[in-house]
Amino acid sequence: MLYLKSGSPEKIKTQAIVIPVCRDHELYSDKVLSSLIQGAKKRKEFNGDEKDELIFFDLPRMKAERVIFVGMGKISEIKAESFRSLTGNYVRKCINKGLSDILIAVPHPSKVQIEISVILEAVLEGAYLGNHIFDKYKNEKKYKPLKKIGLLTTSAKEKQNQSLLRQVKTICDGTILARNWVSTPPNDKKPEQFARAVAESASKEKIKVRILGEKEIKKLKMGALLAVAAGSNSKPRLLLMEYRPERAKKTAALVGKGVTFDSGGINLKQSGSIEDMKMDMAGAAAVAATLITVARLGLKKNIIGVIPIVENMPSGTAARPGDIIKSYAGKTIEVGNTDAEGRLILIDSISYAIKKYKPDMLIDLATLTGACVMALGEKIAGIFSFDDNLADSIVTAGEKTHERCWRLPLPDDYKELIKSDFADIKNLSSSKWGGAITAALFLSEFTEDTRWAHIDIAGPAYAKKQNAYCGAGGSGFGVRLLCELLKE
Ligand code: BES
Ligand code: MG
Ligand code: ZN
Repeated sequence: MLYLKSGSPEKIKTQAIVIPVCRDHELYSDKVLSSLIQGAKKRKEFNGDEKDELIFFDLPRMKAERVIFVGMGKISEIKAESFRSLTGNYVRKCINKGLSDILIAVPHPSKVQIEISVILEAVLEGAYLGNHIFDKYKNEKKYKPLKKIGLLTTSAKEKQNQSLLRQVKTICDGTILARNWVSTPPNDKKPEQFARAVAESASKEKIKVRILGEKEIKKLKMGALLAVAAGSNSKPRLLLMEYRPERAKKTAALVGKGVTFDSGGINLKQSGSIEDMKMDMAGAAAVAATLITVARLGLKKNIIGVIPIVENMPSGTAARPGDIIKSYAGKTIEVGNTDAEGRLILIDSISYAIKKYKPDMLIDLATLTGACVMALGEKIAGIFSFDDNLADSIVTAGEKTHERCWRLPLPDDYKELIKSDFADIKNLSSSKWGGAITAALFLSEFTEDTRWAHIDIAGPAYAKKQNAYCGAGGSGFGVRLLCELLKE
């Protein structure tokens, strides 16, 4: 349970008080905290430098069992993310110590340059997300989430902080929903299961959900989506989620890649590239969780989710390299590589979203290319758009939530690379370079004149190893970002 608390720190009974400390600046106006910090800084091993740590046990004046001082370095170098990651790290350290109840000190507004609501939000996020553990498949649940995390602040009772707390919890719950779906093993999230799991989570919200089965998808003639699904025994689904609050005017459509397992198909992936491919539905998870979250937040915009869900498998019924298929939009596509399946399921969904919902804006999220990970690494998403304003607002939203996005170009002349000798277009580039760009250009052939952005989350969607406030597995990347963007 995450809560805000005010009062004198010495009187609070808790297993640990975590106190962030700067090297060169006071962060608190509370006298007790200040004198505690003075005492800590007298010790040789603690200066408030980054990663410094000092623990006092059973201090005579304090009701807390331990006081943990954590260095943050120079005040000029501190950002909101410093608080998010410090809190996440210390929540996990306290979990590892077997604690269940801690308190974290939040700086006084007069002592910091960053707006206090921004710091509070970061601390709340770090704590809530850092306390999430995906251990559904472990018999022995060795680590238990903390039961109580209090934030010590002078303004705990202020209405706006209480509403901030509720909002952060809601958005982080959405992030955790996405994380859990992504971390779920592929044998437990076949397209039908995953679609039903989303529908189940959405059923308590004001969202209309429809799940189209293979028959309906065939009737719609979504040849590209069907071609990807053809190799699997598990039939495809097209999940439609509609959030339409009263008096909303504008409509945003979100499309998310939902490949529950990407083996590569006939172009089978190798060991080393295939093990984590349960994460290839992270775009779908982020879109579905965002819809559920915006409904919980009660945003005043129409938001539509179009989520194609398939499994990409090799078999006697699978699509072959060389096949020519016909997309929902009518364009023919030569399959150059069955492992470039994401763009195939996306274009049929994008065309459908545009035709059916006529959105004012469309954003797709997809773990689309290894090339994007090559370009930007595992922590930064690539974004593509012809619309400068849309691209800028996504980058800005990502700076705020620390889901970093870097814009990459959509050069007209690179379209040459996805020409086909036999069909209208090819799903594989004739060059081995710039694969994130050619994938995005492929999508752009189907976006018509809709205001569109594509976010390639192949890098940040999944954490191979735990980091500050995310365990190993799905990161939930995109949920906080999209919520931030749609709030504006
Ligand atoms: N799902 C992968 C992309 C991916 C790679 C996601 C690494 C996460 C981490 C996608 O379907 C894929 O296989 N893309 C190919 C495209 C190529 C065949 C043109 C790739 O990136 O190698
Ligand atoms: Mg693939
Ligand atoms: Zn894929």
